Amino acid sequence: MKIFIDTANLEQIRTAQSWGILDGVTTNPTLLSREKGNFRDILKEICRIVDGPVSAEVVSLNADRMVEEARELAKIADNIVIKIPMTLEGLKAIKILTAEGIKTNTTLVFSPLQALLAAKAGTTFVSPFVGRLDDIHHFGMDLVEQIVRIYDNYGFETEIIVASIRTPLHIVEAANIGAHICTVPFAVLEKMVKHPLTDIGIQKFLEDWKKVEK
Ligand code: G3P
Repeated sequence: MKIFIDTANLEQIRTAQSWGILDGVTTNPTLLSREKGNFRDILKEICRIVDGPVSAEVVSLNADRMVEEARELAKIADNIVIKIPMTLEGLKAIKILTAEGIKTNTTLVFSPLQALLAAKAGTTFVSPFVGRLDDIHHFGMDLVEQIVRIYDNYGFETEIIVASIRTPLHIVEAANIGAHICTVPFAVLEKMVKHPLTDIGIQKFLEDWKKVEK
């Protein structure tokens, strides 16, 4: 399973990149609003740090304007992927951008039919938001399970990015279901590596090492 980081914070991205497990980055207008500096400069720097796909979102709602915005964003770097919201206008834009060879990530996906349509339009990635579904007491991971099955049934090549991840358990579930990618906030990435028995084990080994004759 590929692991993306869900942030626009350069320090977090550099740190995660140094761990050697990072496959890509997803940003959105909210994540960029938390950072200082011009958004283009931030995206350019992210694309320099990470080799894999870096999602940058359009904010237009009309297909033609989405396409114009996407073409400009795509000039930032070769690894930019354009996040397009899941609407009818979004579908039109995805079709055009796909034909131009510009990769897209269909975002704000909350139903299996939205995911089916996005794949039919040719989207490279689809992003079901599991946490936001959980927030309104729908099982977000049920949606991922359905998308995996539907894409499998028809051989769609669209990759599923499980987004809006809130806990390490979301990642365990996504991996068991066979989702291609999880995009993970920095705090959750850190939690993935932690286990109290590992810490206790290290401490014990270090204490016992002191008793070994050297
Ligand atoms: O990248 C989009 C997504 O992961 C948003 O997460 O926590 O704002 O629902 P959240």
